[in-house]
Amino acid sequence: MTIRPATSADVEAITTIYNHAVQHTTASWDLEPVTTASRLAWFEEKLGEGWPVLVAEVDGAVVGWSTIGPFRPKDGYQYTVEHSVYVAEGQRGLGLGRALVEPLIEECRRRGVHAIVGGLDAANEASLAFHRRLGFVESGRLPQVGRKFDRWLDLVFTVLVLD
Ligand SMILES: CC(C)(COP(=O)(O)OP(=O)(O)OC[C@H]1O[C@@H](n2cnc3c(N)ncnc32)[C@H](O)[C@@H]1OP(=O)(O)O)[C@@H](O)C(=O)NCCC(=O)NCCS
Repeated sequence: MTIRPATSADVEAITTIYNHAVQHTTASWDLEPVTTASRLAWFEEKLGEGWPVLVAEVDGAVVGWSTIGPFRPKDGYQYTVEHSVYVAEGQRGLGLGRALVEPLIEECRRRGVHAIVGGLDAANEASLAFHRRLGFVESGRLPQVGRKFDRWLDLVFTVLVLD
């Protein structure tokens, strides 16, 4: 397994992994698949704003990605970021998610970030367990603030406060 910064050549794989979660799960609350072109714009914006995007590669194939970005736009939130992590189905439970998020946590420390937020679907047991294992603490549940697949979804915020 290699964890490395993503390049534009990885965007198609990033899009495929993301769209699988969009179409089959409530891990993302996007309702429609995104296009590679829109993800390329997203990627360029991330890089332009100085945010890291990492990919995990196994046997030459990109099988996961992670990133951080702003939590909320007002200046008072400048020491807080929100992260995303997606591992391809079939590659989960092998340590890739941890390997994708731990370097982001280290990067946050280097940048003086104070808190990292994850916003999760309350029914996403794997993600809840994953974040708990990485030291994130469940810090709020917002009932029925999302809707997908004809049902209401609860949002859970998990937070890792850095020393
Ligand atoms: C959540 C997700 C990123 C976890 O990635 P992963 O590669 O499967 O996780 P890892 O193998 O690195 O596991 C890291 C830790 O979390 C725990 N964990 C991961 N999945 C778990 C599960 N389903 N149940 C219980 N614990 C779990 C592992 O036991 C491991 O603990 P340890 O390292 O202390 O031994 C992955 O399941 C995923 O991509 N899911 C779909 C997309 C998603 O939900 N993204 C998050 C949106 S907020």
